[in-house]
Amino acid sequence: MIDPITAMTRICAVYGHPIKHSASPAMQNAGIAALGLGWRYVAFDVHPENLRDAITGAKAMRFIGLNLTVPHKLLAMQMVDVIDEAAKPWGAINTIRFEGRSGEDWLPLAQLPPDVETEIRAAGFNTDADAIVRSIHEDLGMRITGARVLLLGAGGAGRAAALRLAREGAILKLQNRTRAKADEVLAAIKRDLKGAQAEVVEPELLQTAPIEVDLILNATSLGLKASDPLPIHEGQLRNAKAVYDMIYQPAETPLLKAAKAAGCKTANGLGMLLYQGAKSLEIWSGKPAPIDAMRKALHQHVYAHV
Ligand code: ATR
Repeated sequence: MIDPITAMTRICAVYGHPIKHSASPAMQNAGIAALGLGWRYVAFDVHPENLRDAITGAKAMRFIGLNLTVPHKLLAMQMVDVIDEAAKPWGAINTIRFEGRSGEDWLPLAQLPPDVETEIRAAGFNTDADAIVRSIHEDLGMRITGARVLLLGAGGAGRAAALRLAREGAILKLQNRTRAKADEVLAAIKRDLKGAQAEVVEPELLQTAPIEVDLILNATSLGLKASDPLPIHEGQLRNAKAVYDMIYQPAETPLLKAAKAAGCKTANGLGMLLYQGAKSLEIWSGKPAPIDAMRKALHQHVYAHV
């Protein structure tokens, strides 16, 4: 049963550009309803040059919180009043919680009456980085600490995954079409973490001499189009225990299909979307996210019409 909209209804939103394909409203409204919060979560197409105004407006209207997606995650760092310590290493935020002053403390607006007279601030968080670790853990049943991970791709997603997995204690092999970008990510890991176990490998080398790994993680865009080649030589798949593809549309990329045929455990990137959203809802509400309800809604939204 969904609460009707009244003059007391509180709002959360996602800002992106473009935004029309976002699965977040379906997933978050299912989570909000399962928690009985009575809020609504809506999506807005916000042009980057209007992002500051849009955040200020949400603060003025006492939204509960915001999600930020492409291309706003870096920009928004400069537009919040405080940044959660754990978000700082990522240089990006995907979640804002609006908070009201209560004496010396700041409380989430969810804990204050909608009409409370108080100063309000925007606090920035990043729930993306932990979502990759949680998804690998939950969806593949795998511990990252000590795992040998072959990470394909050194773009935005690959870089964030590399840094997060290195922190979690993975033993990383980085591969990227453009070698210089893999080298740059390696340098960033070494700067971030003394004693990190990471190196760059050449794609050609794996073709002739596959290496034993626990996990292959695809963070390239190869697989989005049906005509794409595999992001890795097929022979390498027989030397991996599990394969995770950050792509979730299609649900089974050619890489995951080939990985299954080679006997690997597999998972796609829908779990990353789920767990980043679940964590945002927890940050806003202070309650454990209703994972099953959110997963079901996400699944329906992403795959129902395929
Ligand atoms: P995202 O933010 O999703 O990570 P991105 O930063 O554009 O997107 O990164 C795309 C990744 O896919 C990169 O690792 C890219 O390799 P390059 O750094 O060499 O560009 C990889 N990629 C895209 N098309 C590719 C192709 N045809 N073959 C191999 N790698 C490809």
